[in-house]
Amino acid sequence: MREKIEKLKQDAAKAIREKVANLGELNDIRVKYLGKKGELTAILRGMSQLSAEDRPKIGKIVNEARAQLEALIQEKNEQLKARELADKLSSERIDVTLPGRQRPLGHLHPLTLTLNRIKEIFLNMGFSVEEGPEIEKDYFNFEALNLPKDHPARDMQDSFYITEDILMRTQTSPVQARTMQSHEPNSPIRMIAPGRVYRRDDYDATHSPMFTQVEGLVIDKGISFADLKGTLETALRQIFNDKVGVRFRPSFFPFTEPSTEVDISCVMCHGEGCRVCKGTGWLEILGAGMVHPHVLEMSGYDPAKVSGFAFGLGVERIAMLSYGVDDLRLFYDNDVRFLRQF
Ligand code: DAH
Repeated sequence: MREKIEKLKQDAAKAIREKVANLGELNDIRVKYLGKKGELTAILRGMSQLSAEDRPKIGKIVNEARAQLEALIQEKNEQLKARELADKLSSERIDVTLPGRQRPLGHLHPLTLTLNRIKEIFLNMGFSVEEGPEIEKDYFNFEALNLPKDHPARDMQDSFYITEDILMRTQTSPVQARTMQSHEPNSPIRMIAPGRVYRRDDYDATHSPMFTQVEGLVIDKGISFADLKGTLETALRQIFNDKVGVRFRPSFFPFTEPSTEVDISCVMCHGEGCRVCKGTGWLEILGAGMVHPHVLEMSGYDPAKVSGFAFGLGVERIAMLSYGVDDLRLFYDNDVRFLRQF
């Protein structure tokens, strides 16, 4: 009997020390030996069959074995718990030295970059920046600019009408009239007005029903065509480069008289003649002119006292030429493979 108990104890101790890998297994061992139906418990139960002489001796041995195993189990239990805690701590540890995930940083759209550059150049020359609505009254878009109803020049700017009298503006020029009307009559103005404009048009490499313009208006006493030329030459040389050629051609706009179209020497071939300038060596870049006396009058300015010049340029065209982009639609596609390059 003694040997049997001793063997049970050794087996149990060995299992506890060497086999048990977790708290679940430890509990299995406890049940196996010390549980209600456990092997050591069975021996205690069978004590009644022993002689009165053996009973206390064996009882003592069993109880000792039991106490030893319980101590062992307790010890192992603590070890396992400590190990589980340590494992948990190390597996759940936050590595504060791990670099954060980089968020891809966006940047400005090439049209915005171009617009910012244009604004900067004119702000440096003392211009203010004005704004007007994209949904505009027929009156400001056409009428106040010397384009009465049925004027043939309206056909070139077929628009999206919202009502008979309200449309998506076809040009930024209405901001000229708005600015004059918000000023004291005859007070000086030196402003640019950037913004989107809309026309019923094709959508191809060089046309879009929505595009961006910058309007300019200067009014003061004694403003002459020389001021127009000097200002626009200075601005264009800053937008493109110091050496760019600038050429003024007579033209027609209903709101200016005289009117001019301004060309720059081709930025691709420097005047040699190429595909971009269609062999001419020149690129049309903006429209301008001396503000028509009637336009001044309609907005409360007196052409006998003040004069002015105005201009309008297309931002997409300038962006295409300065970045060498050959398809206008690229600006609106929002393909990051294109946008990433700026
Ligand atoms: N508004 C004209 C257009 O969209 C451009 C323009 C030409 C504006 C001459 C002007 C100007 O202010 O003087 O075609």
